[in-house]
Amino acid sequence: MFSLFARAAPHVPRSTVLTRNVQFSVRFQSTVTTKPKRAPRVLPSFSMEGKVCLVTGAARGLGNEFCRAFVQSGCTDLAILDLKEDEAKDAATELVASACVNSDMTPEDFNVIGVGCDVSSELSVQRAFEQVMDNFGRLDSVVASAGIVENYSAFDYPFDRIKRLYDINVHGAFFTAREAARNMIPQGGGSIVLVASISGTIINIPQPQTPYNASKAAVRHMAASLAVEWAKKGVRVNALSPGYMLTKLTKTILAHDQDLKKTWESLTPVGKMGEPEDLAGAIVFLSSDASKYMTGSEIRIDGGYCLI
Ligand SMILES: NC(=O)c1ccc[n+]([C@@H]2O[C@H](COP(=O)([O-])OP(=O)(O)OC[C@H]3O[C@@H](n4cnc5c(N)ncnc54)[C@H](O)[C@@H]3O)[C@@H](O)[C@H]2O)c1
Repeated sequence: MFSLFARAAPHVPRSTVLTRNVQFSVRFQSTVTTKPKRAPRVLPSFSMEGKVCLVTGAARGLGNEFCRAFVQSGCTDLAILDLKEDEAKDAATELVASACVNSDMTPEDFNVIGVGCDVSSELSVQRAFEQVMDNFGRLDSVVASAGIVENYSAFDYPFDRIKRLYDINVHGAFFTAREAARNMIPQGGGSIVLVASISGTIINIPQPQTPYNASKAAVRHMAASLAVEWAKKGVRVNALSPGYMLTKLTKTILAHDQDLKKTWESLTPVGKMGEPEDLAGAIVFLSSDASKYMTGSEIRIDGGYCLI
């Protein structure tokens, strides 16, 4: 107690402190008024400072939002992977510019790169990771967010499209996780998050999307399986399962059916679709040291959709 006081108002004699409490509190408060104490902003283990992050499917949508959440949490070294290289590079430039608005950071403080990568091709994923390792020398947090959805009834779904969906959603997540772990294990570990979906647990209605639902069930179980395989090597693997979020993916579906949004919202206890930033806290938690004892788990963020 005394040492705290002595720092706040060193000019007050010690005897005054011990015998005259009233004077103590008055003088102490006036010191606080002129120089407020700064409370800690967040639990330090949530910080992404010093971590090298990589997100697939990050030129837009949820992947892009995950990148923003990392930068807002202190990450300055980041790789944005997406199908088209120019879109990935544009997203990198835009992210750095927006991070410097109302901030004392300048573009030189960031190393954010855009890399073209088709996650459905193992070779493309390997080349992208090579580029990232050449650039940063290490990799701490990887998010596999690239994914597609299509709505066909089972009888109408063309097989080549079903294969394409599994190649991106399932094999793409696997190639991403495997390349991440290959690079993380020699450096002592890291965190991998596979973006699954509530569709891996429940069946969405009324739109038919059986292959998508099955692909996301595979991703959830893939996260748990890889978590066990790599647990002793320091690599954690968790799944993040969003409900209905407003991104290009869902807007494309809603463009063909305006009533669908009302149906989805009526089936969601909170009564509305989620915004991409509603996932920011969860992605930082899973990717940071705040979740260091957590692996093979799933976080579901769906406004309560799965409860009813
Ligand atoms: N939006 C939702 O409501 C919702 C809900 C649950 C789960 N998800 C999942 O979240 C993830 C992201 O969805 P979103 O809503 O941001 O979609 P989105 O369509 O807005 O963005 C997806 C991104 O992935 C990229 N991509 C597509 N194919 C790729 C490939 N082969 N290689 C690399 N990148 C590729 C696209 O170019 C795009 O930038 C997906 O896995 C999706 O299944 C979304």
